Amino acid sequence: MEQQAIVREYRPDDEAAIVSLLSLVFEEERSVDWWRWYYQSGHSGPAILKVAVWGERIVGFRGLVPYRVWDGRRYVTACQATDAATHPEFRGRGIFRTLTQEAIREAERRGYSFIFNFPNEMSYPIYRSMGWTVLARPRMWLRVCQPGRQEREPGMATLDMFDSRFTDHWKVYGESRGASICKDAGYLNWRYASCPDRRYIILVEETKEEVLAYVVLRFGGAARKRAYIVEFSPGALDPAGLLRRVIRHAAHLGARVIAAWPLPGLAHRMWQFGLVPNLLRTGRFALRQLTGETPVSWQPVLGDTDYL
Ligand SMILES: CC(C)(COP(=O)(O)OP(=O)(O)OC[C@H]1O[C@@H](n2cnc3c(N)ncnc32)[C@H](O)[C@@H]1OP(=O)(O)O)[C@@H](O)C(=O)NCCC(=O)NCCS
Repeated sequence: MEQQAIVREYRPDDEAAIVSLLSLVFEEERSVDWWRWYYQSGHSGPAILKVAVWGERIVGFRGLVPYRVWDGRRYVTACQATDAATHPEFRGRGIFRTLTQEAIREAERRGYSFIFNFPNEMSYPIYRSMGWTVLARPRMWLRVCQPGRQEREPGMATLDMFDSRFTDHWKVYGESRGASICKDAGYLNWRYASCPDRRYIILVEETKEEVLAYVVLRFGGAARKRAYIVEFSPGALDPAGLLRRVIRHAAHLGARVIAAWPLPGLAHRMWQFGLVPNLLRTGRFALRQLTGETPVSWQPVLGDTDYL
Protein backbone atom coordinates (compact mmCIF):
# COMPACT_ATOMS: atom_id res chain seq x y z
CA MET A 1 0.00 0.00 0.00
CA GLU A 2 1.33 3.47 -0.87
CA GLN A 3 2.54 5.60 2.03
CA GLN A 4 0.39 8.66 2.87
CA ALA A 5 1.55 12.07 4.02
CA ILE A 6 0.54 12.83 7.61
CA VAL A 7 -0.90 16.26 8.40
CA ARG A 8 -0.15 17.67 11.83
CA GLU A 9 0.32 20.88 13.80
CA TYR A 10 3.60 22.73 13.40
CA ARG A 11 6.14 22.11 16.20
CA PRO A 12 8.92 24.56 17.16
CA ASP A 13 11.68 22.32 15.79
CA ASP A 14 10.02 22.32 12.32
CA GLU A 15 11.07 25.90 11.58
CA ALA A 16 14.26 25.25 9.60
CA ALA A 17 12.61 22.54 7.46
CA ILE A 18 9.57 24.76 6.71
CA VAL A 19 11.78 27.71 5.77
CA SER A 20 13.85 25.56 3.43
CA LEU A 21 10.64 24.18 1.81
CA LEU A 22 9.34 27.74 1.28
CA SER A 23 12.69 28.89 -0.15
CA LEU A 24 12.66 25.97 -2.60
CA VAL A 25 9.02 26.34 -3.67
CA PHE A 26 8.95 30.14 -3.96
CA GLU A 27 12.51 30.37 -5.35
CA GLU A 28 13.63 33.05 -2.92
CA GLU A 29 15.72 33.01 0.21
CA ARG A 30 13.50 32.98 3.32
CA SER A 31 15.00 33.26 6.80
CA VAL A 32 13.95 31.74 10.13
CA ASP A 33 13.88 35.28 11.61
CA TRP A 34 11.41 36.37 8.95
CA TRP A 35 9.34 33.22 9.54
CA ARG A 36 9.12 33.77 13.31
CA TRP A 37 8.26 37.41 12.84
CA TYR A 38 5.51 36.72 10.32
CA TYR A 39 3.93 33.62 11.77
CA GLN A 40 4.46 34.00 15.49
CA SER A 41 4.71 37.64 16.46
CA GLY A 42 1.75 39.11 14.59
CA HIS A 43 -0.29 41.66 16.49
CA SER A 44 -3.38 39.40 16.45
CA GLY A 45 -1.55 36.38 17.85
CA PRO A 46 0.21 33.33 16.42
CA ALA A 47 -0.85 31.88 13.08
CA ILE A 48 -2.54 28.55 12.37
CA LEU A 49 0.29 26.40 11.07
CA LYS A 50 -0.08 22.96 9.52
CA VAL A 51 2.57 20.76 7.99
CA ALA A 52 2.44 17.57 5.92
CA VAL A 53 5.10 15.01 6.84
CA TRP A 54 6.35 12.15 4.69
CA GLY A 55 8.45 9.88 6.85
CA GLU A 56 10.75 12.38 8.56
CA ARG A 57 10.43 15.02 5.84
CA ILE A 58 8.23 18.11 5.80
CA VAL A 59 6.74 18.13 2.30
CA GLY A 60 3.83 20.55 2.71
CA PHE A 61 3.04 23.74 4.61
CA ARG A 62 -0.04 25.89 5.11
CA GLY A 63 -0.33 29.08 7.19
CA LEU A 64 -3.36 31.18 8.16
CA VAL A 65 -2.26 34.48 9.75
CA PRO A 66 -4.82 36.30 11.94
CA TYR A 67 -5.49 40.01 11.58
CA ARG A 68 -7.76 42.46 13.28
CA VAL A 69 -10.00 43.60 10.44
CA TRP A 70 -12.53 46.38 10.09
CA ASP A 71 -15.24 44.67 8.04
CA GLY A 72 -17.02 47.91 7.17
CA ARG A 73 -19.25 47.84 10.29
CA ARG A 74 -17.26 46.36 13.16
CA TYR A 75 -13.94 44.80 14.11
CA VAL A 76 -13.54 41.06 13.62
CA THR A 77 -10.62 38.66 13.52
CA ALA A 78 -10.05 37.35 10.01
CA CYS A 79 -7.05 35.51 8.64
CA GLN A 80 -4.88 35.61 5.57
CA ALA A 81 -4.06 32.34 3.78
CA THR A 82 -0.37 32.47 2.95
CA ASP A 83 2.53 30.39 1.70
CA ALA A 84 0.69 27.26 0.58
CA ALA A 85 3.52 25.02 -0.53
CA THR A 86 3.84 21.38 -1.49
CA HIS A 87 7.26 20.00 -2.38
CA PRO A 88 7.38 19.48 -6.20
CA GLU A 89 7.89 15.71 -5.82
CA PHE A 90 4.73 15.38 -3.72
CA ARG A 91 2.17 17.43 -5.67
CA GLY A 92 -1.18 16.15 -6.89
CA ARG A 93 -1.68 13.84 -3.88
CA GLY A 94 -4.17 16.05 -2.04
CA ILE A 95 -1.64 17.52 0.42
CA PHE A 96 -2.65 21.14 -0.15
CA ARG A 97 -6.34 20.28 0.05
CA THR A 98 -5.96 18.34 3.30
CA LEU A 99 -3.73 21.00 4.90
CA THR A 100 -6.20 23.72 3.94
CA GLN A 101 -9.24 21.78 5.20
CA GLU A 102 -7.51 21.16 8.55
CA ALA A 103 -6.51 24.82 8.80
CA ILE A 104 -10.07 25.95 8.00
CA ARG A 105 -11.45 23.72 10.77
CA GLU A 106 -9.08 25.30 13.26
CA ALA A 107 -9.88 28.83 12.05
CA GLU A 108 -13.58 28.10 12.65
CA ARG A 109 -12.79 26.76 16.12
CA ARG A 110 -10.91 29.99 16.87
CA GLY A 111 -13.97 31.96 15.69
CA TYR A 112 -12.29 33.77 12.80
CA SER A 113 -14.80 35.57 10.62
CA PHE A 114 -13.41 34.88 7.13
CA ILE A 115 -10.23 34.10 5.19
CA PHE A 116 -8.72 36.43 2.60
CA ASN A 117 -5.78 35.99 0.27
CA PHE A 118 -4.18 36.76 -3.07
CA PRO A 119 -4.08 33.39 -4.84
CA ASN A 120 -1.99 32.87 -7.95
CA GLU A 121 -2.91 31.08 -11.19
CA MET A 122 -1.75 27.75 -9.81
CA SER A 123 -3.70 27.76 -6.58
CA TYR A 124 -6.88 29.71 -7.45
CA PRO A 125 -8.73 26.79 -9.15
CA ILE A 126 -8.22 24.73 -5.99
CA TYR A 127 -9.34 27.56 -3.70
CA ARG A 128 -12.44 28.12 -5.84
CA SER A 129 -13.38 24.47 -5.41
CA MET A 130 -13.08 25.00 -1.64
CA GLY A 131 -15.53 27.92 -1.47
CA TRP A 132 -13.39 30.99 -2.18
CA THR A 133 -14.81 33.81 -4.34
CA VAL A 134 -13.01 36.74 -5.97
CA LEU A 135 -13.77 40.19 -4.55
CA ALA A 136 -11.35 42.30 -6.63
CA ARG A 137 -8.89 41.96 -9.51
CA PRO A 138 -6.16 44.49 -8.65
CA ARG A 139 -3.81 45.37 -11.47
CA MET A 140 -0.30 46.76 -11.12
CA TRP A 141 0.17 50.29 -12.47
CA LEU A 142 3.67 51.46 -13.41
CA ARG A 143 5.36 54.71 -14.21
CA VAL A 144 8.92 55.41 -15.32
CA CYS A 145 10.53 58.27 -13.37
CA GLN A 146 12.55 60.98 -15.01
CA PRO A 147 16.23 60.27 -14.47
CA GLY A 148 18.32 63.07 -13.06
CA ARG A 149 18.30 64.79 -9.75
CA GLN A 150 14.95 65.46 -8.13
CA GLU A 151 14.77 67.71 -5.14
CA ARG A 152 13.79 66.27 -1.80
CA GLU A 153 10.07 66.93 -1.39
CA PRO A 154 9.61 69.65 1.24
CA GLY A 155 7.06 68.89 3.92
CA MET A 156 7.52 65.14 3.59
CA ALA A 157 9.31 63.64 6.62
CA THR A 158 10.75 60.14 7.01
CA LEU A 159 10.03 58.19 10.22
CA ASP A 160 11.46 54.98 11.70
CA MET A 161 8.38 54.04 13.73
CA PHE A 162 4.66 54.70 13.85
CA ASP A 163 3.54 56.56 16.98
CA SER A 164 0.09 56.93 18.56
CA ARG A 165 -0.84 59.68 16.08
CA PHE A 166 -1.16 56.90 13.46
CA THR A 167 -3.81 55.16 15.57
CA ASP A 168 -5.76 58.45 15.69
CA HIS A 169 -5.33 58.81 11.90
CA TRP A 170 -6.67 55.27 11.41
CA LYS A 171 -9.71 55.95 13.59
CA VAL A 172 -10.63 59.13 11.73
CA TYR A 173 -9.95 58.01 8.16
CA GLY A 174 -9.56 54.21 8.11
CA GLU A 175 -12.96 53.24 9.41
CA SER A 176 -14.73 55.39 6.84
CA ARG A 177 -13.28 53.53 3.84
CA GLY A 178 -14.81 50.02 3.25
CA ALA A 179 -13.16 47.02 4.88
CA SER A 180 -9.45 46.93 5.71
CA ILE A 181 -6.90 45.42 8.01
CA CYS A 182 -6.95 47.64 11.11
CA LYS A 183 -3.98 49.91 10.42
CA ASP A 184 -3.34 51.31 13.86
CA ALA A 185 0.18 52.01 15.14
CA GLY A 186 0.50 48.47 16.56
CA TYR A 187 -0.18 46.85 13.21
CA LEU A 188 1.94 49.31 11.22
CA ASN A 189 4.93 48.88 13.54
CA TRP A 190 4.71 45.11 13.30
CA ARG A 191 4.17 45.05 9.54
CA TYR A 192 6.72 47.65 8.46
CA ALA A 193 9.01 48.81 11.29
CA SER A 194 9.88 45.44 12.81
CA CYS A 195 9.99 43.25 9.70
CA PRO A 196 13.33 41.45 9.44
CA ASP A 197 14.85 41.12 5.94
CA ARG A 198 12.70 43.84 4.38
CA ARG A 199 13.19 47.57 4.63
CA TYR A 200 10.36 50.02 4.22
CA ILE A 201 10.41 53.79 3.91
CA ILE A 202 7.77 55.58 5.97
CA LEU A 203 6.87 59.01 4.56
CA VAL A 204 4.63 61.32 6.52
CA GLU A 205 3.06 64.74 6.24
CA GLU A 206 2.49 65.84 9.81
CA THR A 207 2.02 68.42 12.45
CA LYS A 208 3.28 67.86 15.98
CA GLU A 209 -0.15 66.61 17.03
CA GLU A 210 -1.42 64.95 13.89
CA VAL A 211 -0.50 62.70 10.99
CA LEU A 212 -2.11 64.39 8.00
CA ALA A 213 -1.16 61.71 5.48
CA TYR A 214 1.31 58.85 5.19
CA VAL A 215 2.76 56.56 2.58
CA VAL A 216 4.94 53.46 2.90
CA LEU A 217 7.35 52.54 0.10
CA ARG A 218 9.37 49.42 -0.53
CA PHE A 219 12.21 49.40 -3.02
CA GLY A 220 12.48 46.17 -5.00
CA GLY A 221 12.98 44.80 -8.49
CA ALA A 222 16.23 44.89 -10.46
CA ALA A 223 18.88 46.94 -8.62
CA ARG A 224 16.20 47.97 -6.10
CA LYS A 225 15.10 50.83 -8.36
CA ARG A 226 11.39 50.03 -8.34
CA ALA A 227 9.44 51.86 -5.63
CA TYR A 228 6.28 49.98 -4.65
CA ILE A 229 3.65 52.07 -2.90
CA VAL A 230 2.53 49.60 -0.24
CA GLU A 231 0.43 51.98 1.90
CA PHE A 232 -1.23 55.24 0.86
CA SER A 233 -3.37 57.13 3.34
CA PRO A 234 -4.10 60.72 2.25
CA GLY A 235 -6.34 61.51 5.23
CA ALA A 236 -8.11 64.80 4.45
CA LEU A 237 -5.44 65.92 1.96
CA ASP A 238 -5.95 65.83 -1.79
CA PRO A 239 -4.83 62.30 -2.81
CA ALA A 240 -3.72 63.54 -6.25
CA GLY A 241 -1.36 66.11 -4.74
CA LEU A 242 -0.01 63.54 -2.29
CA LEU A 243 0.70 61.04 -5.08
CA ARG A 244 2.53 63.69 -7.13
CA ARG A 245 4.72 64.53 -4.13
CA VAL A 246 5.38 60.84 -3.46
CA ILE A 247 6.41 60.24 -7.08
CA ARG A 248 8.88 63.16 -6.91
CA HIS A 249 10.19 62.03 -3.53
CA ALA A 250 10.64 58.42 -4.68
CA ALA A 251 12.58 59.67 -7.71
CA HIS A 252 14.74 61.75 -5.34
CA LEU A 253 15.42 58.53 -3.38
CA GLY A 254 16.62 56.83 -6.59
CA ALA A 255 13.45 55.13 -7.93
CA ARG A 256 13.40 54.61 -11.67
CA VAL A 257 9.93 53.03 -11.69
CA ILE A 258 6.93 53.61 -9.42
CA ALA A 259 4.54 50.68 -8.96
CA ALA A 260 1.17 50.56 -7.20
CA TRP A 261 -2.19 48.91 -7.19
CA PRO A 262 -5.09 51.36 -7.65
CA LEU A 263 -4.74 53.75 -4.71
CA PRO A 264 -7.42 54.90 -2.26
CA GLY A 265 -9.18 57.95 -3.71
CA LEU A 266 -7.45 57.60 -7.09
CA ALA A 267 -8.54 54.18 -8.32
CA HIS A 268 -10.26 55.50 -11.45
CA ARG A 269 -7.67 58.07 -12.44
CA MET A 270 -4.30 56.43 -12.01
CA TRP A 271 -3.51 57.25 -15.65
CA GLN A 272 -3.56 61.00 -14.82
CA PHE A 273 -0.25 60.55 -13.00
CA GLY A 274 1.62 58.94 -15.88
CA LEU A 275 0.89 55.48 -14.51
CA VAL A 276 -0.01 52.74 -17.01
CA PRO A 277 -1.57 49.38 -16.17
CA ASN A 278 0.18 46.09 -16.77
CA LEU A 279 -2.41 44.65 -19.14
CA LEU A 280 -0.86 41.21 -19.16
CA ARG A 281 -1.50 40.38 -15.50
CA THR A 282 -4.06 40.97 -12.83
CA GLY A 283 -3.99 39.85 -9.25
CA ARG A 284 -6.87 38.21 -7.44
CA PHE A 285 -8.18 39.20 -4.06
CA ALA A 286 -10.29 36.30 -2.82
CA LEU A 287 -12.27 35.52 0.32
CA ARG A 288 -13.92 32.58 2.00
CA GLN A 289 -16.54 32.84 4.70
CA LEU A 290 -15.90 31.15 8.06
CA THR A 291 -17.97 32.05 11.14
CA GLY A 292 -18.97 35.57 10.00
CA GLU A 293 -19.83 37.37 6.80
CA THR A 294 -17.34 38.39 4.14
CA PRO A 295 -17.08 42.14 3.45
CA VAL A 296 -18.69 43.43 0.28
CA SER A 297 -16.16 46.17 -0.39
CA TRP A 298 -12.42 46.16 0.29
CA GLN A 299 -9.87 47.91 -1.87
CA PRO A 300 -6.60 46.17 -1.00
CA VAL A 301 -3.18 47.88 -1.20
CA LEU A 302 0.09 46.07 -1.89
CA GLY A 303 0.95 46.04 1.81
CA ASP A 304 -2.07 43.81 2.48
CA THR A 305 -0.30 40.99 0.66
CA ASP A 306 2.34 38.86 2.33
CA TYR A 307 4.84 39.13 -0.51
CA LEU A 308 5.80 42.83 -0.52
C1 LIG B 1 -0.57 25.03 -5.38
C2 LIG B 1 0.02 23.83 -4.62
C3 LIG B 1 0.19 24.24 -3.16
C4 LIG B 1 -0.96 22.65 -4.74
O1 LIG B 1 -0.45 21.60 -3.91
P1 LIG B 1 -0.85 20.06 -4.10
O2 LIG B 1 -0.54 19.39 -2.80
O3 LIG B 1 -0.25 19.52 -5.31
O4 LIG B 1 -2.44 20.18 -4.32
P2 LIG B 1 -3.49 19.01 -4.09
O5 LIG B 1 -2.87 17.72 -4.51
O6 LIG B 1 -4.05 19.09 -2.72
O7 LIG B 1 -4.59 19.44 -5.12
C5 LIG B 1 -5.90 19.74 -4.73
C6 LIG B 1 -6.82 19.62 -5.91
O8 LIG B 1 -6.47 20.58 -6.93
C7 LIG B 1 -6.13 19.93 -8.14
N1 LIG B 1 -4.99 20.70 -8.63
C8 LIG B 1 -3.72 20.64 -8.19
N2 LIG B 1 -2.96 21.52 -8.87
C9 LIG B 1 -3.81 22.13 -9.76
C10 LIG B 1 -3.63 23.13 -10.74
N3 LIG B 1 -2.44 23.70 -10.97
N4 LIG B 1 -4.72 23.52 -11.46
C11 LIG B 1 -5.93 22.96 -11.23
N5 LIG B 1 -6.16 22.01 -10.30
C12 LIG B 1 -5.09 21.60 -9.58
C13 LIG B 1 -5.82 18.50 -7.76
O9 LIG B 1 -6.10 17.64 -8.83
C14 LIG B 1 -6.75 18.29 -6.60
O10 LIG B 1 -8.06 18.04 -7.03
P3 LIG B 1 -8.98 16.97 -6.26
O11 LIG B 1 -8.88 17.26 -4.79
O12 LIG B 1 -10.35 17.19 -6.82
O13 LIG B 1 -8.39 15.64 -6.62
C15 LIG B 1 1.37 23.38 -5.20
O14 LIG B 1 1.22 23.19 -6.58
C16 LIG B 1 2.52 24.34 -4.95
O15 LIG B 1 3.24 24.26 -3.95
N6 LIG B 1 2.71 25.31 -5.88
C17 LIG B 1 3.78 26.28 -5.80
C18 LIG B 1 3.52 27.29 -4.71
C19 LIG B 1 2.26 28.11 -4.97
O16 LIG B 1 2.02 28.58 -6.07
N7 LIG B 1 1.46 28.28 -3.89
C20 LIG B 1 0.24 29.04 -3.93
C21 LIG B 1 0.54 30.44 -3.45
S1 LIG B 1 -0.91 31.48 -3.59
